[in-house]
Amino acid sequence: MASAKRILLIIGGGIAAYKCLELIRRLRERGHSVRAIMTKAAHQFVTPLSVGALTNERVLTDLFDLDDEREIGHIRLARDNDIIIVAPATADLLARMAGGHADDLATAVLLATKNPVLVAPAMNPAMWLNAATRRNVTQLQKDGIEFVGPAAGEMAERGEAGPGRLVEVPQLIAAIETVLDEGKEKGGLLAGRHVIVTSGPTHEPIDPIRYLANRSSGKQGFELAVAARDLGARVTLISGPVSLPEPHGVDIVRIKTAAEMLEAVRASLPADIAVFAAAVADWRVASPELEKIKKTEGKAAPALALIENTDILKSIAQPGPARPSLVIGFAAETQDVLAHAKKKLKSKRADWIIANDVSPSSGVMGGENNTVHVISAAGVESWPEMSKAKVARKIMERAATELHAKRTAAE
Ligand code: CTP
Repeated sequence: MASAKRILLIIGGGIAAYKCLELIRRLRERGHSVRAIMTKAAHQFVTPLSVGALTNERVLTDLFDLDDEREIGHIRLARDNDIIIVAPATADLLARMAGGHADDLATAVLLATKNPVLVAPAMNPAMWLNAATRRNVTQLQKDGIEFVGPAAGEMAERGEAGPGRLVEVPQLIAAIETVLDEGKEKGGLLAGRHVIVTSGPTHEPIDPIRYLANRSSGKQGFELAVAARDLGARVTLISGPVSLPEPHGVDIVRIKTAAEMLEAVRASLPADIAVFAAAVADWRVASPELEKIKKTEGKAAPALALIENTDILKSIAQPGPARPSLVIGFAAETQDVLAHAKKKLKSKRADWIIANDVSPSSGVMGGENNTVHVISAAGVESWPEMSKAKVARKIMERAATELHAKRTAAE
């Protein structure tokens, strides 16, 4: 648990605003102090009286609430805290944040702050998925704003479901404490955790000198191992044949075939997190030749009989005592990226699938950058194009938050 912090909570006008009452109670129980700003719309959903009773502070709404100190007042309010939480963040509030508006106290404070800002969106799924909201979220992420959620599920509107629910309070607290910990003790988020990462291609022998392979460079997997190491985890990196320098401080297990990779993963368990970034060959040659296959004039080309390799991710993600708390797969697709990835989430029983477009025009295979979508039971989150190192860092930070949330929920 993080030490006592000063939290500024901005409550937006959404049906989920009532969850803020529970959030304030839980934060104060954990020793944090909470000050609240409510937007005008928020007043339609919770009363300043109940919010004020729980925070034990005057609730603010208007720039004019700050009386004659107004100018200095909102600047001080923006600075005198360790983190600003926006929950529930409505589509309108996100749009105003992305546009740099400052026409009420909430937006003025958000524009003036230099402190970390964590946003928990809540809105109708159609509004969340609308192109305008997508643009605003991408812009805010680029500006360094952190997001938690939304979760997927039934909406207040009858019969509607999809991503748009405010995340539950334990998840929100875990995200808040993760962001706070990052500022303070960067590096410790995964301390004491064991993370397994598979990476690179596999080589499936045809004969002693020929093999089936793919174009994976292993860069994303290596970056994931480095990111987990930098967050304090003990890391086992199980890598197919790649030509990348070995990262220090990581246990590296080098394998060639999918069968060897499966064995190495099993031997490395137990783990808290397993990330399957390897481009494992789906098939191997049924009976590789022990001697080099010779071409003989007049003789037909050899036919290769293939058999399917065990799906390593799927086998490790099966429920059971050895299953890591968080199992993350990748989906490398060249078309219908999201639809295929969603299918994989279910069929492989992963907690998240990180989907990316690897068609040659994307430049992902072998390139430095990646554009990914994070698919989980909570829905789809699309991240802007980033370096593979940044993608790795964000995935591992998010994984740390998720583990922390599981622990908080179990407390
Ligand atoms: N994977 C694995 N073992 C395999 C095949 C795949 O662990 N034998 C993992 C990959 O590491 C990745 C995920 O499964 O995390 C998705 O792999 P991908 O090859 O994209 O999907 P497939 O299930 O093989 O489906 P398809 O090739 O038809 O897209």
